[in-house]
Amino acid sequence: MPATQTREITPAGRLENVRYAIRDLNSLADQVAKQGHRILPLNIGDPLNFDFETPLHLIEAVYKAMRDGKNGYAPSPGIPEAIRAIGKEAERKGIGNVQDIFVTSGVSEAVDVCLTALLNPGEQILTPRPDYPLYSAVLAKLGAQPNTYELNEDQLWQPDLEDLGRKITPQSRGIVLINPNNPTGAVCSRQLLESIAELARRHNLVIFADEIYDKLILDHHDRHFAIAALAPDVPVVTFGGLSKNYLAPGWRIGWAVVSGDKHAVKPYTEAINRLLRGRLCANHPEQYAIQAALEGPQDHLVSVLQKLRQRRDLTVNWSQTTPHVSCVAPRGAFYAFPRMEIPEGDDVFVRELIVEKHVMVVHGSGFGQKPGTKHLRIVFLPDEQILAQAYAAIAALLAERYG
Ligand SMILES: Cc1ncc(COP(=O)(O)O)c(C=O)c1O
Repeated sequence: MPATQTREITPAGRLENVRYAIRDLNSLADQVAKQGHRILPLNIGDPLNFDFETPLHLIEAVYKAMRDGKNGYAPSPGIPEAIRAIGKEAERKGIGNVQDIFVTSGVSEAVDVCLTALLNPGEQILTPRPDYPLYSAVLAKLGAQPNTYELNEDQLWQPDLEDLGRKITPQSRGIVLINPNNPTGAVCSRQLLESIAELARRHNLVIFADEIYDKLILDHHDRHFAIAALAPDVPVVTFGGLSKNYLAPGWRIGWAVVSGDKHAVKPYTEAINRLLRGRLCANHPEQYAIQAALEGPQDHLVSVLQKLRQRRDLTVNWSQTTPHVSCVAPRGAFYAFPRMEIPEGDDVFVRELIVEKHVMVVHGSGFGQKPGTKHLRIVFLPDEQILAQAYAAIAALLAERYG
């Protein structure tokens, strides 16, 4: 008889604080759904859950690749066609001094690889608060102490430059900049990007520019600037992918473009490539969609942006007319981060909202936020009818609880 395992298997202590609030609420929602209620999901940024479809020419490119036998391992940095297409796209964005390009299993893997290749024990990366939780999770995995800089709600959620400057220490190695931003929907001004680049230049920091939403700029008059294009001398890792701009999150295709001074970044890109070889490759047939996406028709973006604009406007309008709620209007991506003036924690409110009104949003505290403030992270991907229903339900719960 084998001995019975009785002792608990304790997990790594450094993962104690790893949470992914966006998905952590699922078990509560499942319980409510099992009672026969339909949940209105305003919590996960997956366009495919709603009235958005992966462009057909991308699907055809992947199908053809599979039929053509591209089902073995790919080269570790990615297939040459994709790397060439990403390089041309970087050029269109004005990014010069490109030193390396590689394809990964989503931006998620690119972030993991790039932070892992940079950090020694005791070193830090500055991440925004509020933050997309992937960054803090990877940093926790690496045992790096969190060090956050504020996004300033009073300044349209732009990074707080003074705070960023104050937070840089001799241990700092890089700055994460998410632009357009998840969870706030903010888009950084050119001037601010130039100031951040100057800080990086002065302190020899790598900028991690997460630009996965760069084609989802909601207003015609607005413009997205790639920080790498404004600072060709500064080491910048620009992240992009198919998940959002090209509506294919399940394919898990992302990439990174490393730019900056050739000699300065060389040891770093060599370390990245050692890690890339260790994990073999990103999904192979799906990489054939990259060239099709970046160089083929962009028609889908017209209807995506039209829908998102209407849904953003509905969201802003609701936040302006609902007691206890205010919101900086999102300018990019498909997220809003309305502020709630409520006496209890936003996590309590969000759980109550699932149980009482069957609406799922994420609490601001799940992204980190200034102490004393409370927010909801809303995904405004659902159609107007679902959004209107969800917003009416949130307003009703607010009125019932707080008058
Ligand atoms: C800011 C940001 N970065 C990265 C990701 C992950 O992207 P991917 O699907 O390419 O792993 C997301 C997903 O929501 C995101 O919002």
